[in-house]
Amino acid sequence: MKCSTLFYYLAAASSASLTLAANSTLLNIDVGSQPVIDVVDVRKQNGVVCLPNFFPLQDYDPMRPASVPTYSLPQYDESVDIGPSATLDADVQALLDSLTLEEKAGQLVQLEIGQFLGCDGLINITAAEIMIDKWKIGSVLEAPQNQGGRWDINSPQRFANFTNTMQSIALRMGSKIPLIWGVDTIRGANYIKGATIFPAPVNTAATFNPVNAYNAGRVGAKDTRAAGVHWAFSPLAGINRNKLWSRNFENFGEDPYLVGEMVYHDIKGLQGDYKNDRSRVAACVKHFIAYTAPTNGKDRDHPNIPWNVLMEYFVPPFKRAIDGGSATVMEDYGLLNGQNTVLSEKILVDLLRNELGFKGMLVTDWGEVNSQWNQYHSAFDVEDSVYQTLNKSSIDMSMTADDILYANSTMNLVNAGKISIDRVNESVGRILQLKKDLGLFSQPYSDTSLIDTVGSKQDVDLARNSALESLVLLKNDKQVLPLNTTENVLFVGPAFNSINYIAGAWAIHWQGTNAYEGDTVYDGYGESVMAGVSNVTGLTPTYIQAYNISGYRADGYDDVVKAARGADKVVFFLGEKPSAEGLGNIDTLRMAQDQYDLVESVYKNTETPIVLALVQNRPFSLGKLSSYASGIINVGLPGPYGGIPVAEVLYGQYSPSGRMPYTYPKMDYQASTQYYTPIWNEYDPEFAFGQGMGYNNITYSNITVSNTDLVSGSPISVSITATNNGVWEQSEPVLMFTTQITRRGYSPELYRLRAFDKQKIAPGASVTYNFNLTAEEMSFINVDLQRVISEGPVMITMNAFNQNSKSITINLHES
Ligand SMILES: *[C@@H]1O[C@H](CO)[C@@H](O)[C@H](O)[C@H]1NC(C)=O
Ligand SMILES: *[C@@H]1O[C@H](CO)[C@@H](O)[C@H](O)[C@H]1NC(C)=O
Ligand SMILES: *[C@@H]1O[C@H](CO)[C@@H](O)[C@H](O)[C@H]1NC(C)=O
Ligand SMILES: *[C@@H]1O[C@H](CO)[C@@H](O)[C@H](O)[C@H]1NC(C)=O
Ligand SMILES: *[C@@H]1O[C@H](CO)[C@@H](O)[C@H](O)[C@H]1NC(C)=O
Ligand SMILES: *[C@@H]1O[C@H](CO)[C@@H](O)[C@H](O)[C@H]1NC(C)=O
Ligand SMILES: *[C@@H]1O[C@H](CO)[C@@H](O)[C@H](O)[C@H]1NC(C)=O
Ligand SMILES: *[C@@H]1O[C@H](CO)[C@@H](O)[C@H](O)[C@H]1NC(C)=O
Ligand SMILES: *[C@@H]1O[C@H](CO)[C@@H](O)[C@H](O)[C@H]1NC(C)=O
Ligand SMILES: *[C@@H]1O[C@H](CO)[C@@H](O)[C@H](O)[C@H]1NC(C)=O
Ligand SMILES: *[C@@H]1O[C@H](CO)[C@@H](O)[C@H](O)[C@H]1NC(C)=O
Ligand SMILES: *[C@@H]1O[C@H](CO)[C@@H](O)[C@H](O)[C@H]1NC(C)=O
Repeated sequence: MKCSTLFYYLAAASSASLTLAANSTLLNIDVGSQPVIDVVDVRKQNGVVCLPNFFPLQDYDPMRPASVPTYSLPQYDESVDIGPSATLDADVQALLDSLTLEEKAGQLVQLEIGQFLGCDGLINITAAEIMIDKWKIGSVLEAPQNQGGRWDINSPQRFANFTNTMQSIALRMGSKIPLIWGVDTIRGANYIKGATIFPAPVNTAATFNPVNAYNAGRVGAKDTRAAGVHWAFSPLAGINRNKLWSRNFENFGEDPYLVGEMVYHDIKGLQGDYKNDRSRVAACVKHFIAYTAPTNGKDRDHPNIPWNVLMEYFVPPFKRAIDGGSATVMEDYGLLNGQNTVLSEKILVDLLRNELGFKGMLVTDWGEVNSQWNQYHSAFDVEDSVYQTLNKSSIDMSMTADDILYANSTMNLVNAGKISIDRVNESVGRILQLKKDLGLFSQPYSDTSLIDTVGSKQDVDLARNSALESLVLLKNDKQVLPLNTTENVLFVGPAFNSINYIAGAWAIHWQGTNAYEGDTVYDGYGESVMAGVSNVTGLTPTYIQAYNISGYRADGYDDVVKAARGADKVVFFLGEKPSAEGLGNIDTLRMAQDQYDLVESVYKNTETPIVLALVQNRPFSLGKLSSYASGIINVGLPGPYGGIPVAEVLYGQYSPSGRMPYTYPKMDYQASTQYYTPIWNEYDPEFAFGQGMGYNNITYSNITVSNTDLVSGSPISVSITATNNGVWEQSEPVLMFTTQITRRGYSPELYRLRAFDKQKIAPGASVTYNFNLTAEEMSFINVDLQRVISEGPVMITMNAFNQNSKSITINLHES
């Protein structure tokens, strides 16, 4: 095979254009020329450029980032919330005024990069020039990919070559307005080779430490920008309401307050001072709203949510994101309460713009405008879809993805007088202002100096630390954990020996790696738990696969009982194939029977203690396995750098500090059970929200309140002291819940999380945690959609659902 190195150079856009638009000052900034990036060309296989579907990724893109061990980036005043402004800058307004209708319509359209790729995975300049020159498109999304997502992992060098080349075309053709490029950077820049991939958001939530959300956002922004991409479709601010749903792991759990805190800090990390700092991206909080509550648990099944319930539980995390300055919002697929979201004035104007005060740019999810006529039966044809979208909603940009019909229809509708030009101006203005805020008019090309920072050890350490903090110890009878290197431990299950299975979906590819390429595609950027155990113990672990990732018997199934008899302990890694969206739909929370049967035969035929390590997208029901096991750890999806952290917890180098960010059901009927169920209702899950412990015995004492009467405008402070009676240092989260004992007319919830804090406690030491509680936090939305307070006693509980919980009661007053 032959490699050739291409050095290339493209002249800067000519500044002497005579068109109207080019008169704008924003388009007359000297932006220099496209940076020269030394890109290794795609390798040919047997002299053929158009590679087959399956080929080693390294043949496609053999480059790696230099990954300098450390680097430093601009800091800013984190206490300031920086977000979109309601008005356009004068130069943005001037540019808007100078645009033709055609140029405006083009700005509203976002196309996926697959439209501009040849079968060789290289950019098709002709196709790009047509879309930019003729249709004047304003935006592009995703990583260079085709062949069903096979190639969507590119070195930052190669990715930047793509984005800069597209940008150079945009600067010299069509409206000459730079493109804004968006990508699904969900937890680190998961589509850029070598970029540090953090744990899945559900694991970040389990850390109960928002710094981890910040770090994932910060590193993800920097690596995304290194590739010349300016916009991350992240974070997800949904509260999970159905445990069957395939996308639970992408959100931060089931609690509105926890989700809000994580989302806020993720946005701070992604965006920071994004109007000045070119190592940041625009965040895009999504999916607005109620995607997370599919009625039957399948992806995109319709949610029905009473409006007061929506306002009480679903809206607060989005409000926190918008107040925190999220530059953009993405609307949700499908419908809510029977009405299609992308066509909804109530959701996208009344709620989002008027009530929540969102001033930034609103984008659709993939293909949603076309889906109205070709899937949902809510519009007669494409023009009707576009008409309803523009007339009813406040959508600014259509992630049309595969065609330019949105632009064409917009022009037709304005020309026919059905849509006013003012409505189009409003959206184009927001798009242009965002482009200016992100520095695209003055610095349209990528900053090549960021490339060397991708995959820095500094970043990997942060990802490993987040993974470490995210592991939740749920059961530890007779201190079966931690393991000791002197013990003979048998490890069973493919998730023990795979990077892909601990990483999950939205890593490397949309659905994780495929069977053909396996972990080779990680190319050293991560480690399996098996490698982690070797690293931590210096020993070669004893391992039998026994079942495949779907839980069906595989190599060594019949050897496990015998091997378990000879072992001191057996650790089963129970897993699930990485998946997302419709491809992750399931019918039941039960795992495949072979897995249950195998654990049961070890339990019934040996005396060997059993430990379960749960590596999964969502909570599969354990049935009798939870009683057979002496130890249970919820591993979740700690990311490709989760191998060493899992080993460190298993072997006692770190005392676990995660807590469940959702209710873990026992059976399918509990799939839609949250801990904030009515106080009298059954709450009998396998594991409760907030449950978790470390290896230390932590005792709590001295719960105090500054005042036993809580009135509006006068917060009280609550404190509690935790003492570490163990031998490990303990990172200890304290979760403060409230329960209103009686709430007239509206049964109170069992508990509501109001605050949390995580601190380190040295062995033998005590630490006092302080919280504030306001009467306003105790208010709720009634069916008339008013926020009200109902007076009466309120119980404050620290660490509800854990054995060391402590409570104190105060009185809430209406005024
Ligand atoms: C270009 O801008 C200048 C100054 O704003 C203005 O006087 C002139 O009319 C503009 N030219 C065109 C072609 O719009
Ligand atoms: C880099 O971009 C240039 C165009 O700017 C293109 O000709 C070349 O094929 C690209 N190289 C790779 C490896 O993608
Ligand atoms: C590039 O795009 C043009 C225009 O869409 C198309 O005609 C041509 O076949 C494409 N070339 C490749 C190699 O895909
Ligand atoms: C939507 O259409 C109605 C009926 O033609 C019209 O009164 C209204 O102004 C339009 N709204 C927008 C935002 O275009
Ligand atoms: C754009 O709309 C016009 C008017 O309806 C139509 O004739 C034309 O075919 C459309 N173009 C595309 C690419 O759909
Ligand atoms: C929208 O743009 C048109 C020119 O394209 C202009 O006549 C009109 O005043 C603009 N409306 C607003 C509200 O800016
Ligand atoms: C491991 O076991 C050995 C021998 O029983 C014991 O001395 C040592 O303290 C144990 N280590 C841990 C971390 O428990
Ligand atoms: C363990 O992994 C770390 C991080 O990758 C590495 O620096 C160290 O050399 C490894 N140690 C062993 C014994 O493999
Ligand atoms: C696991 O094995 C079953 C039964 O042989 C098979 O149907 C399934 O496709 C396998 N799953 C995977 C992910 O290989
Ligand atoms: C935890 O420590 C306290 C204080 O030393 C002790 O009273 C209690 O029995 C211990 N609990 C457990 C489960 O060891
Ligand atoms: C609890 O408060 C009492 C009285 O103020 C004090 O003597 C004791 O040391 C405190 N305990 C802890 C663990 O802080
Ligand atoms: C509680 O409120 C006081 C007064 O506003 C503030 O100084 C303190 O930082 C708050 N404490 C916490 C833990 O938020």
